Amino acid sequence: MRIALIGYGKMGKTIECIALERGHTIVSVIDVDNRDDFDSEAFRSAEVAIEFTTPETAVDNYYKCFASGVAVVSGTTGWLSRLDEVKKACTEGEHTFFYASNFSIGVNIFFALNKYLAKIMNKFPSYDVSMTETHHIHKLDAPSGTAITLADGIIEEIDHKNRWVLGKAEQPGDLSIEAIREGEVSGIHKIVYESDVDYIRFEHEAKSRAGFALGAVIAAEFTAGKKGFLGMDEMLTF
Ligand SMILES: NC(=O)c1ccc[n+]([C@@H]2O[C@H](COP(=O)([O-])OP(=O)(O)OC[C@H]3O[C@@H](n4cnc5c(N)ncnc54)[C@H](O)[C@@H]3O)[C@@H](O)[C@H]2O)c1
Repeated sequence: MRIALIGYGKMGKTIECIALERGHTIVSVIDVDNRDDFDSEAFRSAEVAIEFTTPETAVDNYYKCFASGVAVVSGTTGWLSRLDEVKKACTEGEHTFFYASNFSIGVNIFFALNKYLAKIMNKFPSYDVSMTETHHIHKLDAPSGTAITLADGIIEEIDHKNRWVLGKAEQPGDLSIEAIREGEVSGIHKIVYESDVDYIRFEHEAKSRAGFALGAVIAAEFTAGKKGFLGMDEMLTF
């Protein structure tokens, strides 16, 4: 498959290695200093562009891909306040866009189990729930996109929680997310249910970035030739 990379940072470089290992060709690599390459034959020849940049630049990159007719798979986090607008542009323009706040297959299993556990815990209101996410010091957004997806899953299932807050809960209906930034941690998400008598701890820890990069390449393979707004739910059917 012909792949373009948008963003040649930590994720872009790891994705390049994995894509080459899986027999794909990288036809174009775009970063801040060669954005004119969006307007190149090489970029337009890509079957899929894989985008990992920054919250401020991601949406503009999606529109550039839509304009060139190149399907886009993106994992950039922190831009979701514009999700509805991007979805609308994608579906109305008959473009192709695959988004996941976390491409790790393990994390997506964790998402499914998180919802299942929350559904059970809804029957036991004596347990309060909170979350901690830990990432490397270079991460720009907090809480992580993964923590927000986990929090949304909990809020959907647990009747006495109605919003997430970054930091300490202010009201009983708040789900507290503590964001810790330290060292080069790839990503740890921990959910704790606490009652007067015990704790139930539920945790996922990424060993490296490789799991996210592999998931993004698998998503690109899945996306090629498809239309519309896609995500992990379409790709992984549990
Ligand atoms: N969804 C997932 O599974 C997942 C996993 C890891 C990281 N992420 C997210 O992916 C994003 C990138 O992470 P990273 O660790 O590679 O960051 P990084 O800082 O190492 O790399 C970002 C790259 O994007 C480039 N860039 C910035 N603006 C650009 C623009 N306008 N056009 C093209 N390139 C541009 C930067 O120069 C840099 O090379 C972050 O939002 C991070 O939270 C998501």
